Amino acid sequence: MLYPVIWQNDSVSLIDQTRLPNEYTFVQIHRSDDMARAIKTMIVRGAPAIGVAAAYGMYLGAREIETENQHEFLERLEKVAELLRSTRPTAVNLFWAISRMMKTAYESLGTVAEIKQKLLQTAEAINAEDVQTCQAIGDHGLTVLPSTPEKLTILTHCNAGALATAGYGTALGVVRSAWREGRLERVFADETRPRLQGAKLTAWECVQEGIPVTVITDSMAAHCMKQGLIHAVVVGADRIAANGDTANKIGTYSVAIAAQAHHIPFFVAAPFSTVDFALADGSQIPIEERNPEEIYQVGETMLTPSGVDFYNPAFDVTPAELITAIITENGAFVPGDLATSQPQPLSNAETR
Ligand code: MRU
Repeated sequence: MLYPVIWQNDSVSLIDQTRLPNEYTFVQIHRSDDMARAIKTMIVRGAPAIGVAAAYGMYLGAREIETENQHEFLERLEKVAELLRSTRPTAVNLFWAISRMMKTAYESLGTVAEIKQKLLQTAEAINAEDVQTCQAIGDHGLTVLPSTPEKLTILTHCNAGALATAGYGTALGVVRSAWREGRLERVFADETRPRLQGAKLTAWECVQEGIPVTVITDSMAAHCMKQGLIHAVVVGADRIAANGDTANKIGTYSVAIAAQAHHIPFFVAAPFSTVDFALADGSQIPIEERNPEEIYQVGETMLTPSGVDFYNPAFDVTPAELITAIITENGAFVPGDLATSQPQPLSNAETR
């Protein structure tokens, strides 16, 4: 399996996702400020993977603090947390993982050296748990995918694969499980302008596993649906509000509207750590705006004349009413059931 974030030789090894699919290389991260830079520049990206990377970043930061005084240690660790939190605003997994690391630090009894050890153990646990979570999401996905035809064509947007998690993937986790069970014909991958995570990363992951994949430009999705080429849409999430409104890569919202217009089920696959119960609805989700260069420049080539303005939101929010079900590690739920304590998991029949 593909693991984008690995702890080895006393440092963190990250697959450099900015170089795929042309180069499969790793970057070694030894310091917390380098980890913050790696998250910001998207060497590591995807909500759960950012969370895992930030957890290790917290440990690296803890390791840099030279004091035996617990109070001073915790104060300086808060600064590391602040730096890591400032990297990307939308994916809540980043904040979730940092909070879990801070909780470990505050609740650990013992010397500073012992707290540091506990922090490494927590980062390792976050990494390992996410792989299991993704496998569970993948398998729960099988219970809600349309039961006909026998072999499905699934459209996905951006990359919610192994690269975007600790391994296996969320949306691509569902795809992987469907492939394993003989329920998948092929994947349609939106290229996902402007960073092209679909064309570069999702397509690369599918090729690695021998999963048939067709890359389309984002503007082709509705046409493919109309032609009957798509049986279901499965996407990941960066933050899900309590009512089920879901922030994911820019363009997801348009795909959801197109899916509803063509009566195609639209699924969000995400771990519970992506649900932000503090936000009542999606209007409160902070949307990252990135450098306009991502829109107007490809390599050395300028795509637009000078003198034009740009707007580059990296995420959009899909309203809960467009989402057939949210597939989590605990089962699949209609969005409105997320916030209740005892939601009843759905079955294939109910999502058709
Ligand atoms: O900007 P990115 O590449 O970090 O955005 C990634 C996405 O939007 C993914 O769909 C999302 O994080 C889910 S990853 C399992």
